[in-house]
Amino acid sequence: MKTMHNIDSYTHVRGESLFVDDIITRQDTLFGLVFDAPKAHGKIKSVNYRKAEALEGIVKIFTYEDIIGENQIGGILPDEPLWAEDEVHFWGQPIAFIVAESETIAKKARQLIDIEIEELPVITTAKEAKTKGSFINAPRSFSLGNTEEAFNNCDYMLEGETFSNGQEHLYLETQGCYAIPQENGSIKLISSTQGPTAIQKIAARVLGVPMHKIEVDVTRLGGGFGGKEDQATPWAVMTAVAVQHLGKPVKYILNRHDDLRMTGKRHPYSSFFKIGLNKELKIIAFEAEFLQNSGAAADLSPAIAERTLFHATNSYFVPNVKTSVYSCKTNLPPNTAFRGFGGPQGMFVIESAIAAAADHIGVDKRLIQEANLLAENDEFSYGQIATQVEAESTWFSAKNTFKLETLEQEIIAFNENNELFKKGISLMPIAFGISFTNTPMNHARALVHIYQDGSVGVSTGAVEMGQSVNTKMLQVAQDILGISAAKVKLETTNTTRVANTSPSAASSTADLNGKAVQMACNALLDRLTKVAAEMIEEDVTTITIQNDRVHIHGKESKLSWEDLIAQAMLERVALSENAHYATPIINFDKTKEKGHPFAYHVYGTAITTVTVDCMRGIYEIDAVKIVHDFGKSMNIGIDLGQVEGALAQGIGWMTLEEIAYGNDGRLLSNALSTYKVPDIFSAPRMIETVPLETAGNDMAIFKSKAVGEPPLMYGIGTYFAIQQAVKAFNKKYKLKFHAPFTPEKVLMALYEK
Ligand code: MTE
Ligand code: HPA
Ligand code: MOS
Repeated sequence: MKTMHNIDSYTHVRGESLFVDDIITRQDTLFGLVFDAPKAHGKIKSVNYRKAEALEGIVKIFTYEDIIGENQIGGILPDEPLWAEDEVHFWGQPIAFIVAESETIAKKARQLIDIEIEELPVITTAKEAKTKGSFINAPRSFSLGNTEEAFNNCDYMLEGETFSNGQEHLYLETQGCYAIPQENGSIKLISSTQGPTAIQKIAARVLGVPMHKIEVDVTRLGGGFGGKEDQATPWAVMTAVAVQHLGKPVKYILNRHDDLRMTGKRHPYSSFFKIGLNKELKIIAFEAEFLQNSGAAADLSPAIAERTLFHATNSYFVPNVKTSVYSCKTNLPPNTAFRGFGGPQGMFVIESAIAAAADHIGVDKRLIQEANLLAENDEFSYGQIATQVEAESTWFSAKNTFKLETLEQEIIAFNENNELFKKGISLMPIAFGISFTNTPMNHARALVHIYQDGSVGVSTGAVEMGQSVNTKMLQVAQDILGISAAKVKLETTNTTRVANTSPSAASSTADLNGKAVQMACNALLDRLTKVAAEMIEEDVTTITIQNDRVHIHGKESKLSWEDLIAQAMLERVALSENAHYATPIINFDKTKEKGHPFAYHVYGTAITTVTVDCMRGIYEIDAVKIVHDFGKSMNIGIDLGQVEGALAQGIGWMTLEEIAYGNDGRLLSNALSTYKVPDIFSAPRMIETVPLETAGNDMAIFKSKAVGEPPLMYGIGTYFAIQQAVKAFNKKYKLKFHAPFTPEKVLMALYEK
């Protein structure tokens, strides 16, 4: 397969790529703005809109009373109103939607709304919610073997506690939608969403119209990272309600402050672990209880909680496991999907447990990691049998390729020779399951048109959000059809062309949609080779299409792609194909919590080295060196970009990015001055990614494994590398597992007594 540049790079660098805010608006377009709760929990006593409504240029202020269908936007559970009715449950919860002739007028009006709230107690942490019995749904529990019995037979047993904080998505393009009225009550929504069908479905529900009245169109996203899987919906639905009433186009793009305040983030987790090992450092038993801070409504929390359980043992085999997760209801904005989808939170806990055990036993953490790596035919706690396992291969390949022993010796020497600077190193293996954990979501469709001039248009359910899925879809089409890239165009993602889609998420977009494109193109190719065989009077089995020409026995013929298509038109051969792909094999039985939920796993191992400045508590990441299992990458440039981007995001989550809410539920880290994301100075000085040599996996498109989320979890290694450096400076430091490990916390740890 030929690799190629991202097809968007040309328009990106020229500033010509279109995002929602770039769409030329109709002259009569109106502008929306949300009025949101100024308290985290309370009863709405009164809202006075009179002064706001009286402002010149205000068209209408919408509230729940204007909803013709249901005031309900919940995806998994019906527990979230579009606009609050008589209570508010988080600071930033939408109450009303101001529609005005300009954004400036809408902003002025927002300041003129008076609200009276009778405050109720506010819960901001998962622990407090658990104590008070405040949950989203029933807890879930996975188990394998018998931990109780196994703990009796352990030589070492450790218990501990961990915390990992939330994370702001900080997509460059904030949330937004442009809604345009069509004929007969139909509405077109141009949205920045990972889930066009979710918007279509929920808009139809709220408006009280059939889904066919709502068309959702997506060109591309300026980043989603999970933040637009469910949470692009409310803004799109609000503009749709406004269009339904006003008959004019309505646009709403959130400014950064409003986006930060009103949208959910990665879930903070408070967790407890218990780990038991024998003298040979084998993990005999592992128990974990995860308290997920879900926020004020379910959103995707139950699915994220589930993925935490699926990743609770990372890339290790543990024969006795018992894990449970509580989705704790708090008064924060509903937390949501974020790259890794609960997996990183799960993996941080077992890595912490292993670090705690190593410290207790007095061995290197990596010896425990290495002694427990997953092997072929091992069973995950949820019943799936691991096959084509690359846990050991990536681990040992990383050790050898990057000369771990030399690195370790260098670090020992450095630490002996330096008082105020200490280095640390960690190994971080990953095993990440690919597929939506909810089996019925694993399907996709593609619609491929060959136009009569030979150019091709491809529509899929895939949303381009910077991960370059459109480039991969183009590669599939051009490869199967045997034509040049210039002949293929990726169309926008549109619910009228490709319906009932799952969101672009779970790292599965290229696999699911790519397989559908492959099927559609193969069907077209079948028909076309028959036409070609007749035209050149050859047996159909001898015919292929390559480089825009028909080939016979692999040799170029006189027949061009264009002439073949022209002839197919004359013969009235169908030049369009719609294909449907559903992942085979996978299944999961929630009543037993057992099954085979993943098409395959992605593996890899990262070696992270850091230097801590022990005077100031600041640190530098010297290098992250990775052996990653891409399968057979279909586009190594794009895939390396995904590894580096995900790694940076994982490092940010583990080191710098500290979301802070006040006890009153107000977001304190509400600007980029108070919320630090990795920049060029905090990025690793060096990132080296070496692809693992492997045969690839047939469940992946062209054997090229999903890559979007797994490398984020390499970032977890940074936490433990810093921890090791701290320990090298301060022997009295008692290991704590409280991420992010910000310079402040590092400084405290360095001088802890
Ligand atoms: N890369 C970029 N540049 N922008 C994004 O928003 N989202 C990530 C990942 N990589 C994202 C990204 C997330 S959360 C997922 S699930 C996958 O891409 C989704 O795309 P895929 O399924 O095509 O990998
Ligand atoms: N991953 C990502 N997004 C999802 C999933 C999943 O497993 N399930 C539902 N949305
Ligand atoms: Mo990604 S968190 O599955 O959108």
